[in-house]
Amino acid sequence: MDCTTCHTEEAATMEDGSMGACVHVQEAQTECSTCHVDSATLSEVHQDATATDVMPKKLKESSVEPATCQAAGCHDVSADDMLALTADVTELTDSQGTQVNPHEVMGLTAGHADILCSDCHSMHKAKANAADTCVSCHHAGVYECNTCH
Ligand code: HEC
Ligand code: HEC
Ligand code: HEC
Ligand code: HEC
Ligand code: HEC
Repeated sequence: MDCTTCHTEEAATMEDGSMGACVHVQEAQTECSTCHVDSATLSEVHQDATATDVMPKKLKESSVEPATCQAAGCHDVSADDMLALTADVTELTDSQGTQVNPHEVMGLTAGHADILCSDCHSMHKAKANAADTCVSCHHAGVYECNTCH
């Protein structure tokens, strides 16, 4: 199946150098199916899809799991090497000066179990701001819970 016939928007991001998808094409010859491996969900959502369908505004039943990003030959590096990649990143500093390495976040505590690589690394959209991904839970601008209530 040629994904690009219907998904013209995502296909365009494979050729736009400012997009994560394009970086993956250039550096790893990535195809749609390299990242979109959840074939069970995909065949379900595509059951009645035809080339003349109007795309729904929001699609989000399928996601790309961290395990897919960390598959052999891709980002299959140790936790220490992941931390080293972002050792100098200071953008995750809260209003009290607590600084967090972005690559530490996914392994921090149970409250972070559902965070995906793609929450910070968009592939088909403009680059996400890592700090914006914290606000939905850390609503008070502080990287802690259970201190105020
Ligand atoms: C490098 C990995 C990667 C490649 C290559 C890739 N995708 Fe994606 N795709 C993702 C991730 C991660 C998401 C989750 C949302 C995001 O980051 O934009 C996603 C989301 C989507 C979505 C849902 C969009 C939405 O609004 O949520 C569609 C549809 C899609 N991709 C289609 C494609 C098609 C078609 C191709 C090939 C032309 C492709 N993708 C190539 C990683 C990839
Ligand atoms: C015949 C047109 C068509 C083709 C070809 C096609 N898609 Fe889709 N795709 C759709 C439509 C329509 C939807 C929205 C389905 C819905 O949510 O009702 C969709 C949804 C998706 C989603 C979002 C699923 C979700 O709801 O989370 C992904 C990811 C995706 N397609 C990837 C792909 C990939 C990868 C390929 C190639 C292997 C592909 N599509 C080929 C029409 C197509
Ligand atoms: C889905 C909700 C959620 C998101 C998103 C989230 N956090 Fe948290 N965070 C929590 C919860 C809940 C706790 C309290 C500890 C627990 O229950 O896991 C916490 C605690 C923390 C702590 C204290 C950890 C400890 O050892 O007590 C730090 C630091 C932190 N978060 C940083 C971040 C940063 C930085 C981001 C954004 C990149 C972020 N969190 C995004 C829910 C979240
Ligand atoms: C909380 C946000 C966050 C999460 C989650 C996250 N990253 Fe990152 N990552 C960053 C930031 C910030 C950088 C610094 C470079 C940048 O801004 O893109 C970075 C850098 C990287 C780099 C180096 C890019 C380069 O240009 O050298 C790679 C590779 C990477 N991340 C892969 C991953 C993978 C794989 C995962 C999931 C296992 C992941 N990241 C999860 C925020 C995050
Ligand atoms: C700096 C103080 C502070 C921190 C830290 C903080 N909160 Fe809050 N939170 C508040 C205040 C103030 C309110 C609104 C007061 C109220 O009605 O309880 C609130 C309200 C809430 C509510 C709504 C409660 C309700 O009954 O409507 C939730 C849910 C919540 N916080 C979750 C969290 C989580 C999860 C974290 C950590 C990720 C967190 N908060 C960290 C101060 C804080």
